[in-house]
Amino acid sequence: MKMINEKYTLNNGVSIPKIGFGTWQIKPGDDTFNAVSLALKAGYRHIDTAAGYQNEESVGKAIKASKVPRDQIFVTSKLESHIKTYEEALDAFEKSMQALDLGYIDLFIIHAPWPWNEMGKDCREGNVLAYKALEKVYKEGRVKAIGVSNFSKDDVENILKNCDVVPAVNQIGYFIGLDQSEIISYCREHDILIEAYSPLGIGYLLSNETIQSVAKRYHVSPAQICIRYLLQKETLPLPKSVHEDRIIQNTHVDFEISLDDMSLLDT
Ligand code: A2P
Repeated sequence: MKMINEKYTLNNGVSIPKIGFGTWQIKPGDDTFNAVSLALKAGYRHIDTAAGYQNEESVGKAIKASKVPRDQIFVTSKLESHIKTYEEALDAFEKSMQALDLGYIDLFIIHAPWPWNEMGKDCREGNVLAYKALEKVYKEGRVKAIGVSNFSKDDVENILKNCDVVPAVNQIGYFIGLDQSEIISYCREHDILIEAYSPLGIGYLLSNETIQSVAKRYHVSPAQICIRYLLQKETLPLPKSVHEDRIIQNTHVDFEISLDDMSLLDT
């Protein structure tokens, strides 16, 4: 089976396509509508958005316009990082539901353990309150899975200690050259899938000489090496592009990077 059609199984039994289409930094409106439409045409069946990207409505419109049945598309959205109370989290969930207008959300996650403008702030109590709101809508069946993003080991531990539902995923920045081994092994111990945002290092990795030389050996592009590397690490890459040729190229990752080359890329 082609990688773009393969799925991981989350810790609650729900299937999730192994490659997701990232929409961070794609402008709401036509840009998002067009990019998501192209992604669905190219075969992506997993779209990652967030309230904070302000493009949920355009994502929802593109999905509806695609005519791909709703149950064949996996949609993730995120609770904005500053929301750390139960009631506000429930309200925010309703807003995401309305903006997407797709009947249900597949995966809803806390965007970050602290507000973006107060990075590192201790929000343990607030994260538990927000997560309990996610548990409520999960138990009601309005979302198929819940999880977290940008959570450290301590942040995840706080949820495991104080909440009922083990997060299905932790979405973190992860790409070749960034050591995330501690949080990855901790999440793996608890059967929490790692999703990798910025898999191309926001594009910066593509001019890296080592990655370029490995790419040449496999007759693929540096972007394809970056995406394939994350899949071989058993994580879920979320590449973003607004260009059709790149959107398509990023799905063609049906080759195997050798163990030697994986080690080279690790360094
Ligand atoms: P663009 O959207 O203009 O195509 P990341 O997924 O790590 O955030 O990286 C996204 C960046 O990499 C974007 O700037 C995107 O540009 C660029 N990009 C995505 N796919 C490719 C590709 N296959 N080749 C070159 N650049 C790419």
